[in-house]
Amino acid sequence: MSHSLTLPFQAQRDFVEKGSLAATVTVPGTAIETTPHFAMEPLLAVKNVHLEYATDKSIVRATHDVSFNVYPSDRFILLGPSGCGKSSLLKSVAGFLPPHSGTIELDGKVVSKAGPDRVVVFQEFDQLAPWKTVKQNVMFALLASRTLGKKEAAERAEHYLHKVGLNRFFDAYPHTLSGGMKQRVAIARAMAMEPKVLLMDEPFAALDALTRRKMQEELLALWEDTKFTLMFVTHSIEEALVLGNRILLLSPHPGRVKAEINSHQFSLDSAGSPEFQATAQRIHHLLFNEQA
Ligand SMILES: Nc1ncnc2c1ncn2[C@@H]1O[C@H](COP(=O)(O)OP(=O)(O)O)[C@@H](O)[C@H]1O
Ligand SMILES: [Mg+2]
Repeated sequence: MSHSLTLPFQAQRDFVEKGSLAATVTVPGTAIETTPHFAMEPLLAVKNVHLEYATDKSIVRATHDVSFNVYPSDRFILLGPSGCGKSSLLKSVAGFLPPHSGTIELDGKVVSKAGPDRVVVFQEFDQLAPWKTVKQNVMFALLASRTLGKKEAAERAEHYLHKVGLNRFFDAYPHTLSGGMKQRVAIARAMAMEPKVLLMDEPFAALDALTRRKMQEELLALWEDTKFTLMFVTHSIEEALVLGNRILLLSPHPGRVKAEINSHQFSLDSAGSPEFQATAQRIHHLLFNEQA
C-alpha cells in the first residue's frame, strides 16, 4: 500500500471504530484483510507458530503455522471449538510454552519466558490464593514481580479494585465471594500489573448467563476507560462478536487459522440484530467448513 498516512494514534482508532468498514471476512492465503492498522507496528506479532506437546506415547501438534498481529488497544479474540489450540497459543504468548517453530514478538522482542508485561486471567475460580484477602491477592502479584513499594502496591490494588466495583471487599477472603466476584478480583489483579497485553482464557465461561453478560459489559467499560490491549480466548461466537474488534477463527487438530474478521461494529446492544446474526452464521459456516 502506498499510504503514507501517519495519523495520530487516536485518529487511527477513530478510523477503525467509526469508519465505514463492513465486516470483512478473509480466508488467509486468498487475500489479506485490509486492516486499517497499516501505519502502526504490531504490539504482538505471532509468526508461523507451531506448538507441540510431547506425551509418553506421541507428539501432539496443538497448532500448525499460526500467524497473526495484535495492535495497541485491540480487543483481539481467538475463537474456535475445543482443541483448536486457543489455550496453547495464549500460554505461548504468556511465555509458558515455547513454540516448536516460529516466533512470538512483543514490542519487537522475541518472547522467551513469562514476564509481568503479559498477565493471564483464567476460567477457574480458584486462581486466587485462598489464605489472602482480596486486596492482598492483588498486591501480592505487584510486590512479587516489581519494584513497587508496599504503599504504592496498596494504592494500586485499591485503585483497580475500585474499577471492578469491589471497594467494599478489600478484606474479604476468596471463599466468601461469588464466582463473578472472584473473576473481578482476578481481573483487577491482572490490570493492576498494567501489562502490555492482558491475556484472558475463557474467563467468563464458568459463570451463569446473566453474570457472564454483566462481566462482558464491565470488561468493555474498563476497556473504554484505559484502552488496554486485550487478547481474549472464547469458544462462543456471540461473545467473540460482542467483545472483540478483531477475531481470529481457528479450526482444530491441529489448530490452524481459518480466517480473520473485523467485528468492531458490534456491541452488546447489537447482539440480536440481523447483521449480527448474519455474521454469527457466517462464522459458524467458516468454522465448520460449510457453504456460506
Ligand atoms: N498438556 C498437554 N499435553 C498434551 N496435549 C495437550 C496438552 N494441552 C493441550 N493439548 C492438546 O493440544 C491441542 C490444543 O489444546 P488447547 O490449546 O487446550 O485447545 P483449546 O484451548 O482450543 O481447547 C488439543 O489437541 C489438546 O489435546
Ligand atoms: Mg482452552
